[in-house]
Amino acid sequence: MQLIDGKLISEQIKAEIAQQVKQMTAEGKRPPHLAAILVGHDGGSETYVANKVRSCAQVGFQSTLIRYEADVTEAELLGRIAELNADDDVDGFIVQLPLPKHIDDQHIIQAIDPSKDVDGFHPVNIGKMMLGLPCFVSATPAGIMQLLRRYDIKTSGKHCVIIGRSNIVGKPMSMLMIQKTLPGDATVTVCHSRTSNLPEIVRQGDIVIAAIGSPEFVTADMVKEGAVVIDVGTTRVPDPASPRGWRLKGDVKFDEVAPKCSYISPVPGGVGPMTIVSLLTNTLQAATQRNR
Ligand code: GUN
Repeated sequence: MQLIDGKLISEQIKAEIAQQVKQMTAEGKRPPHLAAILVGHDGGSETYVANKVRSCAQVGFQSTLIRYEADVTEAELLGRIAELNADDDVDGFIVQLPLPKHIDDQHIIQAIDPSKDVDGFHPVNIGKMMLGLPCFVSATPAGIMQLLRRYDIKTSGKHCVIIGRSNIVGKPMSMLMIQKTLPGDATVTVCHSRTSNLPEIVRQGDIVIAAIGSPEFVTADMVKEGAVVIDVGTTRVPDPASPRGWRLKGDVKFDEVAPKCSYISPVPGGVGPMTIVSLLTNTLQAATQRNR
């Protein structure tokens, strides 16, 4: 069994990005600039956005954090998005989700200029991804593809079983894994909370991607000997022993599943660190593509 070390790979990619930023600035160009809009004070979102801003600094990007209280109107947010779309100093920007209930996520996402949509959430980017055209691929699926690539995991002709059908992981992951390019070229099955014979299907998976958001959902009896298991779960569970009072739990019962796997990604330290790196990669791509 080989552990997929997302922390290590993410550090390597950050070093590669920092090198490219150095080269850009040596050529007299300004560094890439990412802006992030954060609405309200959700604990998870605060942490994620703080990590994104910190990672920008680590690789030499400029970043701008734009904060609004939870009672901001949709019109106000749309106005700020229009400004960011028109701002030549900003290469890419994100609006951290979830948003308060009175704001329609899709109104916000669809207002973002697709060429600055480094989250890859705009329908134009999702449509291009489905067609296999160059686009911004959202952070988690892009991070998983990068792990498969860097560990040289064979995917062609394999049966990839994805557990979960979310817009930000399950659905895009299924689209990427059926593309003819590598990693991909796989036979894909998507299971979800309503799948009646789920364990039987997961047992057929050469590659299992667990993104259902249910801690320790995947048990040893559901995994084929020699399978590759990617755990996307990030549920916070109470942990009095931790200084934060909680710890992250994945969707896979790691201790009993790991001995059966050829490769497995842990939580934390697997997919998680890769997601921010994908956002940085997309921002670098946005900056490179812009005429500046
Ligand atoms: N909320 C959870 N994941 C993400 C992400 O990748 N991007 C944004 N904008 N919000 C999120």
